[in-house]
Amino acid sequence: MAWLLWRPWQCWEQALTAQARLRSSLCSLWEWNPVGSFIANPCKQVSQIKYASAHGVQMMTFDSEVELMKVARSHDNAKLVLRIATDDSKAVCRLSVKFGATLKSSRLLLERAKELGLDIIGVSFHVGSGCTDPATYTQAIADARYVFDMGAELGYNMTLLDIGGGFPGSDDSKLKFEEITAVINPALDKYFPVDCGVRIIAEPGRFYVASAYTLAVNIIAKKVNMKEQSGSDDEDDGASDRTLMYYVNDGVYGSFNCILFDHAHVTPIVHKKPKPDERMYPCSIWGPTCDGLDRVVELCPLPDRQVGDWLLFENMGAYTVAASSTFNGFQKPDIHYVLSRSAWQCMQQIHAQGMPALVEEQSPGNMPGHCGCGSTLELPAKPCATSVST
Ligand SMILES: Cc1ncc(COP(=O)(O)O)c(C=O)c1O
Repeated sequence: MAWLLWRPWQCWEQALTAQARLRSSLCSLWEWNPVGSFIANPCKQVSQIKYASAHGVQMMTFDSEVELMKVARSHDNAKLVLRIATDDSKAVCRLSVKFGATLKSSRLLLERAKELGLDIIGVSFHVGSGCTDPATYTQAIADARYVFDMGAELGYNMTLLDIGGGFPGSDDSKLKFEEITAVINPALDKYFPVDCGVRIIAEPGRFYVASAYTLAVNIIAKKVNMKEQSGSDDEDDGASDRTLMYYVNDGVYGSFNCILFDHAHVTPIVHKKPKPDERMYPCSIWGPTCDGLDRVVELCPLPDRQVGDWLLFENMGAYTVAASSTFNGFQKPDIHYVLSRSAWQCMQQIHAQGMPALVEEQSPGNMPGHCGCGSTLELPAKPCATSVST
């Protein structure tokens, strides 16, 4: 069992600082209806395409001729978006190795779609998740323009540009959201000026949820390893010859699958604050399963803590618990929604009065503090029984 501590303000706080044009595009994602829905996976099962047709979902991406033929056979009124490849070599998680048509094949696909009588309404791309190079967006937007122009030559009037995801969602990301928008906005102005009639949308994932949660894990076992004696008695009490292994109740088969699948490096924070002079030990942190691969942290300095104590991991919202499994008979982590008192009061205020008008001018320091350590929030001394499950 692990606890996920929610930090809702972070999402809108970041969204509010984004530039206006992109912001309005991002917000449009929240309006759900079949006609406004969009299947962003270019390689779908025929049954999914038929389901979409039956339920009025028209917009979907494609990047191959086979997909075009499947759609032609299985959907009555599809509105197709051509996903193009990007140079995502500098992204943490590459997606164009799997999806996206080259510019050369884009022309062939547009021609084939014409022959099949299919409607192409736009272009999409994804620069790779955890993008570290904003120039990727610029190139992708320029490439999209090129495909729009090819489409126009073939008689298509495309009106949708989907700039995908890749936006950071936590303060510790290498590339800041503002650095990306500083590049995207001029590129959009150049290639898709406001009066060109093209609607611009995005598919932010990490951006919304990367910092939504703090994960709290409980120490369930511990080992103290003594290094071989070196023969020297330089050390005062031998503590530096000691390494600690902490075993916790969530691991790479649970919330920490991000270590394997999302190339994540996680940093523990002890919930019980160390005293100023408290000794630190070289520690490793391990998940609860029987697998030796189930290692959360290889080496980090931590104080001596006991079974039942808690470790916190910040920014555990995106690509974590969503892909957890029940490997080795362990249940997926339960989710407990926990807010500090000040955050709860803030939420109540927003619920009652709406979003404060001046919130854009509010500095993060005025917002409720972190949950968990440093707040009034108390974690239970022992892991408690499930209260809310997903
Ligand atoms: C098609 C598509 N759109 C959006 C996303 C979200 O990406 P990110 O979390 O980088 O914003 C993904 C992630 O894999 C994706 O495959």
